[in-house]
Amino acid sequence: MDLQAIREQMTLEEKAALCTGASPWTTVPVERLNIPVLRVADGPHGVRRIVETGSLVNAKSLPATCFPTASALASSWDRDLLYELGQALADECIALGVDVLLGPGNNMKRSPLCGRNFEYYSEDPCLGGEMAASFINGVQSKGVGVSLKHYAANNQEHERLTINAVVDERALREIYLAGFEIAVKKAKPWTVMCAYNRLNGPYCSEHKQILTDILKEEWGFEGFVVSDWGAVHDRVASLAGGLDLEMPGPRDYRVQQVIDAVKSGELDEAALNESVGRLLTIIFKAAETEKGHTEIDIEGHHALARKIAGETMVLLKNQGDILPLKDVTKLAVIGRGAKEAHFQGGGSSHINPTRVDVPFDELAKLAGGAELLYAAGYPEEDGLDPALIDEAVALAKQAEVALLYLALPTYKESEGYDRKDIDLTAQQVALIKAVAAAQPKTVVILNNGAPVAMSEWIGDAAAVLEAWMMGQAGGGAIADVLFGKVNPSGKLAETFPLRLEDTPAYLNFPGENGEVRYGEGLFIGYRYYDAKALDVLFPFGYGLSYTSFAYSNFKLSAAKLTDAGSLTVSVDVTNTGSMAGKATVQVYVHDPESRLARPYKELKGFAKVALEPGATQTATITLDARAFAYYDPAYGRWVTESGAFDILVGSSSADIHFKETVQMESTQELPCILHADSSLRDWLSDPRGAAALQSLMQQFSAALSDEAALGMVMDEFMQQLPLASILHFLGGMEDSAPEEIVAGLLAQVHAG
Ligand code: BGC
Repeated sequence: MDLQAIREQMTLEEKAALCTGASPWTTVPVERLNIPVLRVADGPHGVRRIVETGSLVNAKSLPATCFPTASALASSWDRDLLYELGQALADECIALGVDVLLGPGNNMKRSPLCGRNFEYYSEDPCLGGEMAASFINGVQSKGVGVSLKHYAANNQEHERLTINAVVDERALREIYLAGFEIAVKKAKPWTVMCAYNRLNGPYCSEHKQILTDILKEEWGFEGFVVSDWGAVHDRVASLAGGLDLEMPGPRDYRVQQVIDAVKSGELDEAALNESVGRLLTIIFKAAETEKGHTEIDIEGHHALARKIAGETMVLLKNQGDILPLKDVTKLAVIGRGAKEAHFQGGGSSHINPTRVDVPFDELAKLAGGAELLYAAGYPEEDGLDPALIDEAVALAKQAEVALLYLALPTYKESEGYDRKDIDLTAQQVALIKAVAAAQPKTVVILNNGAPVAMSEWIGDAAAVLEAWMMGQAGGGAIADVLFGKVNPSGKLAETFPLRLEDTPAYLNFPGENGEVRYGEGLFIGYRYYDAKALDVLFPFGYGLSYTSFAYSNFKLSAAKLTDAGSLTVSVDVTNTGSMAGKATVQVYVHDPESRLARPYKELKGFAKVALEPGATQTATITLDARAFAYYDPAYGRWVTESGAFDILVGSSSADIHFKETVQMESTQELPCILHADSSLRDWLSDPRGAAALQSLMQQFSAALSDEAALGMVMDEFMQQLPLASILHFLGGMEDSAPEEIVAGLLAQVHAG
């Protein structure tokens, strides 16, 4: 298909029209030129195919499988699983006539309060990026596209359409853009959705630096950028900035604005042509997919949703190996979550499920004839109801084990607004305490999309299972885990803090006067808790299993490497218990000495291995040079420094089994960045600067021979000063003005 020829035949009016939707969920077809329509639908953990594609408000959608949401999915740390999920979603898209699925969401979890965290993967860009890439590759392997969203720095719902996220360049590159970068480079998404918010000033929908310079030019993104629904404020500025498709449509006045801007010369037609070219590429790519008349495999996908949910659940506590349940004859099942599955969050990702497992019924099916007693435990609405607690306690006393199914109220986690706290309801906390006091074998099963505080009650519960927003088949998956049909292998993709007050963004969330400052910089999640040496409830990467693992034979492929090479880390994992299980090996990198501050450790690779009892497998993880680099705004590039780097291998960010140091020899040649304000320290730490200062340094030390006079360490004092100021202070050392001397030196160091 000669797309350029097609584009050249399009009139200005047709090109402008193509760049704004025909409806909330479709693009404009051009019959004259056989340009077909492209159909999109939310996403991300199911297909929300709106019945009336012409309607934005009437959101009734066709039945589709609701899989676990992203915070659950990332806890699997399982690339293959995400790929498999992606393929199933693509099949449903095909069955429902959808060309592009609006997901995955890969915003970083800056604060546990963000209302949409259930739709996002992680606090870590490596894990988030890898999960997103596998998901995308799975979907796109079937000829269906995705929209990687919400690009970028959309880390809260408070004032999400307007808030200005003020993020320093380093944090932006290393944290907030890095997850997108990995996904774009590894999976080539067909489309990227820009975020609503502003980023350091401009709206993301008009942000040339992130849409054009970084995404398209630097990362080589070849698809098109679509606006989040209603994110465009100035259509002409957004096209010029790199926003190819505005949604939703139709918006005739926008089309007219583009036509007028091209005619008046305000908008270069080349920018419009570029967007049209990108749109045509994807529209025709989608049209090439053999759509057929497939139907959703309701049974098969429900079973897959159950399998996936089982892989994502995280066993947080299991005192006395109370789980898996064995030989029980009477169980007290307490909590509304057992009868009304809480399996997804609110907003545009809300799926109309094909069916929903009732956790209580699924438990009964696996209970092997054990008697199941039920009490609601807490009211439907918020509020305290002591009678419900009394009823639950009476039941718990009669049983051998109490299972508490606690779902965070649905209104707490949604698109559009943030959480106000990270607590369970007061009734739920009181319920846990009362039941656990009456029944020492109390197991808490949680359904929520983001961390909840547990300090008040975790000491009372014998076991805690984080079951997340588990998708429509999650009720069955909980039963699988409780009875040991599935050995839990989920690992937290985000830190569970002790208290909201401990969280990295606490003082800077959600901002005020239209602005939110990312004051913690790149220290989000475990990077922050490490740096502050703060205790947490459960660390990033943590999760228990019904079996145990031993780690041995830790090896690095080399003791030295260059930035052109890579390093292979390998470790043997042995299942030392009596049940088949899965372990996740996590590789972190730390740079002990660097020009800029570096986190204590950063996840740079991971591998999940499945092991029968007694079996051993070697996990192998390769780190490329980027795993050692940081983004240096002074150079405007990624920098790999020479020197020592620690390689840490663990089974969580707090449980490190091995540490070894490698030597990096960087071949990067960095330009000289000395300038008029550079301090003496800066000059001396640059070899070109140190050489240029040689004679001046002798004069400085001669002039400062009387060190003790001011009762200070003169050398330290001087190191902080710009050269010109030193010359001013010392006075009369040279004939020329200090500024001239510095200008001369700068000319010298920049000449080379
Ligand atoms: C959400 C997007 C979603 C879009 C279409 C927006 O409000 O932020 O994630 O894809 O609506 O429903």
